[in-house]
Amino acid sequence: MRLGVNIDHIATIREARKTYEPDPVAAAIICDLAGADGIVCHLREDRRHINDDDLRRVRETVKSHLNMEMAANDEMVRIASKIKPEMVTLVPEKREELTTEGGLDVVSMKDHLRDIVFRLKSAGIKVSVFVDPDIAQIKQCSNVEADLIEIHTGHYANSKTESELVEQFEKIKEAAIYADKLGLGVSAGHGLNYHNVKDIAEIEEIEELNIGHSIIARSVLVGLDRAVREMIALIN
Ligand code: PXP
Repeated sequence: MRLGVNIDHIATIREARKTYEPDPVAAAIICDLAGADGIVCHLREDRRHINDDDLRRVRETVKSHLNMEMAANDEMVRIASKIKPEMVTLVPEKREELTTEGGLDVVSMKDHLRDIVFRLKSAGIKVSVFVDPDIAQIKQCSNVEADLIEIHTGHYANSKTESELVEQFEKIKEAAIYADKLGLGVSAGHGLNYHNVKDIAEIEEIEELNIGHSIIARSVLVGLDRAVREMIALIN
């Protein structure tokens, strides 16, 4: 199982004081040395954490795998085409949300997304689409020619009861099997932590997990190197 570490919240801490530290580039290097397979950064429209200069410097530094999360719009396609991350993950974005709240509605945006995916792939970038574990949405990801999907695990992570947890887990598993059969690569993420990640990591079709908040939160207390190593040990 590969691990992509989302380092947005390193920049969130910096932005709390509008200062220069901690530096996301330093975090990217520590994650890499601790064994992470890649780094994930979300360049938001409002630049609330990662900014354009961070992304440029992280790109210069990360030699393993850079996954840029972004909204599916012209501005972001222009930036990605210049920065050239190995992969882009298309996510829905709302200004007022605290974090990404759900998967992209690929069904209702399919023509727009087909164009965005085509332009990114023409720039040599692999394209992933963040979707809910929903068969109709996943089918459209294949139709718009995405390379892979990232299954939104947020509802699973937020489950309040055991039966809800089981129901959400089954949806994720079914979605992963379906996407794999369509020939899409499969990753998953959102809300995964040291307690709920193991079952998801056991789903064979899922090749990569993208995790941010829980790793950065733990790193404040035990250090980033240890937080990354502990997550790698759990998912393998
Ligand atoms: N995957 C996607 C598409 C996301 O938007 C996020 C949050 O930025 C994550 C994974 C990581 O989620 P978390 O911070 O809850 O681990």
